[in-house]
Parts: sequence; structure tokens; C-alpha cells
Amino acid sequence: MYKEPMLKEGALKDKVIIITGGGTGLGKSMGTYCSQLGAKLVLTSRKLEVLQKTAAEMEQETGNKVMAVACDVRKYEEVEAMLKKSTDEFGKVDALLNNAAGNFVMPTERLSHKAFDVVVDIVLKGTYNCSLALGKYWIENKLPGNILNIVTTYAFTGSGYVAPSAAAKGGVLALTRSLAAEWARKQIRCNAIAPGPFPTEGAWSRLFPPVVQQYVDPMKRLPLGRYGDHQELANLAAYMLSEYSAYMNGEVVVLDGGEWLHGAGQFTGLENIPDELWDMWEKMRGR
Ligand code: HXC
Ligand code: NAP
Repeated sequence: MYKEPMLKEGALKDKVIIITGGGTGLGKSMGTYCSQLGAKLVLTSRKLEVLQKTAAEMEQETGNKVMAVACDVRKYEEVEAMLKKSTDEFGKVDALLNNAAGNFVMPTERLSHKAFDVVVDIVLKGTYNCSLALGKYWIENKLPGNILNIVTTYAFTGSGYVAPSAAAKGGVLALTRSLAAEWARKQIRCNAIAPGPFPTEGAWSRLFPPVVQQYVDPMKRLPLGRYGDHQELANLAAYMLSEYSAYMNGEVVVLDGGEWLHGAGQFTGLENIPDELWDMWEKMRGR
């Protein structure tokens, strides 16, 4: 049931949305649904062939225009050029989905400073490069705007073994709230989604390779006993990119089946105690 699309047909009709990292994984899933809802898309990342393949698939499925533009979000000039191509093609841009990311699972002391740079540059610098370019464009042209950032739940908690990603995603969350406060008067909204685990080739191959899976089963952390389905995330993202969420600004919506709170609660681990032990405990209390 949770795999069903949620929004009304045409909910994003004629909206132009730039999706960074839109050729693969969650960016592709969110983009496909936005395209089904009538949006025109710009998919952007480093690998043009991947983007072109995804764009062709989406166009074929939905009949709506999807443009593929190569751009490394770490480079501001490339972001500006990508924005120019977008406005040349579509006449305007309505929304930006900052989804591109990089991540390595590794004890921090084993990372080189360059590895740290790579992750922080894609996640934090990439997000502020795109947000700044789009913000300037919207403000100069007196247009409303909408920014949606994809963070993670460890943006609030931090997490061992993914320190650069956690530091960068924490920065993106602070940026989300800062821009929401500052640019609201310019009619630019800025929100975030913190997804829990949604299987993708990109994340799983890097974060849960077979050698890690020998020791850690990510499924075991999930109180609902399942991963997220891509359509569940796509439903939320489309809502936050649409006018239905017009009064939402500065929000971060967690979509993780309760995973992070489950891990944080001091006594939640008591769920491992079998019922018979609780029975004994009650008897010992004399009830
Ligand atoms: C440690 C590594 C490494 C690894 C590379 N490096 N891979 N360090 N572990 N697995 C180091 C290199 O040695 C080098 O440092 C530096 O990082 C740069 O390496 P490059 O190969 O030049 O990097 P680059 O070509 O820029 O590619 C790296 C990347 C790539 C861009 C991050 O992995 C990528 O395309 N990632 C995008 C996909 C991705 O990561 N998706 C997952 C998102 S999931 P030296 O010093 O040797 O030069 C997510 C949250 C998930 O974010 C939460 C899940 C529940
Ligand atoms: P993914 O498929 O690996 O997506 C990452 C994308 O980022 C790729 O399309 C990649 O394309 C692009 N990218 C990387 N470096 C770039 C750069 N320098 N410039 C432009 N684009 C770049 O992984 P995913 O799982 O779908 O992740 C998508 C988002 O969800 C990320 O923000 C991630 O942190 C977040 N997230 C995922 C999960 C999960 O469970 N999957 C959980 C929480 C949060 P190129 O290689 O072509 O550049």
C-alpha cells in the first residue's frame, strides 16, 4: 500500500525543478515521480551518460521534458553554467533539490585529508553553491523559489565512521534553517528531508559492502523491520516541492520508520528481554 503515489495528477504541472545527483538512486526516484506529476526537470551530476540515460527513460515514461546537464556541484562556475542552460531551455527554474552526495565508511583517522575534503565539498559546498546561485537568480528576477535539501538523521546526532558526511550534513541542516529564516521575505522557502535507510546501489555499495555486512546488519536497527520504499520518499519530496507545502519553511522532516529515536532511547534495548522474563519480574514485584 505504501508504494502508491500520493499527490493529485498535475500537482507539479509546469514547475521546473533542478535535481542534483538526479541520474541515480533516490534522486532518480524523486525525479521520476515529479516528472509523472507534470514537472519539467534538469538532472545534473558529473556523469553525463548516466544522466542522459535516466532523462530518456523518464521522458519516455511521463512525456514531460527532462534535460541532462553535466555539472560538478563543487565548482561554482559549473553550477552557474548549469543554471543558465536550465533557464535558456525552460525560461525559468522554480525549485532546487539538493540531493548529490558522496560518503565513505571508514575510521576517521584512516581517512586522508583529501578524502575528508571530497565528501564535505560535494555535500556542503555543493549544496551552498547551488543554493547561492539559485537564490541570487530568484532574488534578481523577483521570483519565488523553493529549496529542498536531502540530509540524514545523523545530521542531528553525528555518527562514527562517517564523520565527514555527518559534519557536512549537519552544515546543510544549519544552512537550511538559516536560508529559511533569511529568504522567507524574498518568497524563497528552504526545507530538508532526513531519510533513514532506502536501499540504493550508490549508498549500499559504499556503506554496507559485504565485508561490513558480516558484522553489521542494517536491517536489525529498524524498528518497523523494513527499509523505506523509494515511493514513500518520492511522495514526501513531491509534496515539499509543490504548492501544497507553501506554508512549510525551515522544516526538516524525518522519514526513517523511527530508526534514530529507537537507537537513541536509553531503555529501548529492553525489547530484547523475552516476555517470560517480564513475567518473572512482575511476579517478583508480587503482582
Ligand atoms: C576512504 C577514499 C575512498 C574510500 C576514495 N577515497 N575512496 N577514502 N574510503 N572508500 C579517498 C582517495 O584515496 C582520495 O584521497 C580521495 O578520497 C579522493 O578520491 P577520488 O577517487 O579522487 O574521489 P572522487 O573521484 O572525487 O570520488 C569520490 C566520490 C565517489 C565522489 C565520493 O565515491 C562518488 O561518486 N560518490 C557518490 C556516491 C556516494 O558516495 N553515494 C552515497 C551517498 S549515501 P587521497 O589522499 O588518496 O588522494 C549517504 C548517506 C547515507 O550519503 C546514509 C545511509 C543510511
Ligand atoms: P547515489 O545514487 O550514490 O547518489 C549520489 C549522487 O550524487 C550520484 O548521482 C552522483 O552522480 C552525484 N554526485 C556525486 N558527486 C557529485 C558532484 N561532485 N557533483 C554533482 N553530483 C555529484 O546515492 P543515494 O543513496 O541515492 O543518495 C542520494 C541522497 O540521499 C544523498 O544526499 C544521500 O546522502 C541521501 N541519503 C541516502 C540514504 C539512503 O539510504 N540511500 C539515506 C540518507 C540520506 P555522479 O557520480 O554522476 O556525479
